[in-house]
Amino acid sequence: MDKVDFNTYSIYDMYENMYYIINIARSIVLNEVKDVLKNGGKIEQITKIESRIKSYVSLIEKMEHKGYELTWNNVIEKINDLIGIRIVCNNLNEIYEIANLVKNDARFEILKEKDYIRKPKESGYTSYHIIFRYKCKIEEVTIPIKAELQIRTVEMDNWANFSHDLIYKKKTQVVG
Ligand code: GTP
Ligand code: MG
Repeated sequence: MDKVDFNTYSIYDMYENMYYIINIARSIVLNEVKDVLKNGGKIEQITKIESRIKSYVSLIEKMEHKGYELTWNNVIEKINDLIGIRIVCNNLNEIYEIANLVKNDARFEILKEKDYIRKPKESGYTSYHIIFRYKCKIEEVTIPIKAELQIRTVEMDNWANFSHDLIYKKKTQVVG
């Protein structure tokens, strides 16, 4: 009989359970961000808002790269972009207006801001990033979840999507 790799199996198992909870958190955080946009009169103006959960491969790679043991606590505490929210709007002013709405809302604990518009990345990537923590209430339990909010214009979004597969992810791919 083939040996079962319990180590790998349990990690998959853990991700599956984790995925269930994180997906609920994603939907809660997305709704909260939408609510902020609504209250600030911005929801009608934006081109799109989307969300994602960090993929299994991407999560494992990042945990390994940073040297963290794959535990629930580490994933929750160390990974900034476990949940990703992206707002695409029409112009530069709107980016900063939306960023301010989020920053001034007490629901979110702002952890980090990265202005890749004033200071573009070497690749040419531009966007405004806010890393925040939001306390998600899931079945009577409060889980503080980190999320990365990316705010960009349609042009920035087109550039990022075009360059993403072409250049950005290639750099982090394992060769061999
Ligand atoms: P990772 O890049 O995700 O490992 O995190 P980090 O801590 O280095 O943060 P960084 O701010 O560099 O990138 C966060 C996110 O911004 C990425 O996951 C991408 O979605 C996006 N991003 C950053 N740089 C680029 C780039 O050069 N091109 C594209 N298309 N997206 C980028
Ligand atoms: Mg990076």
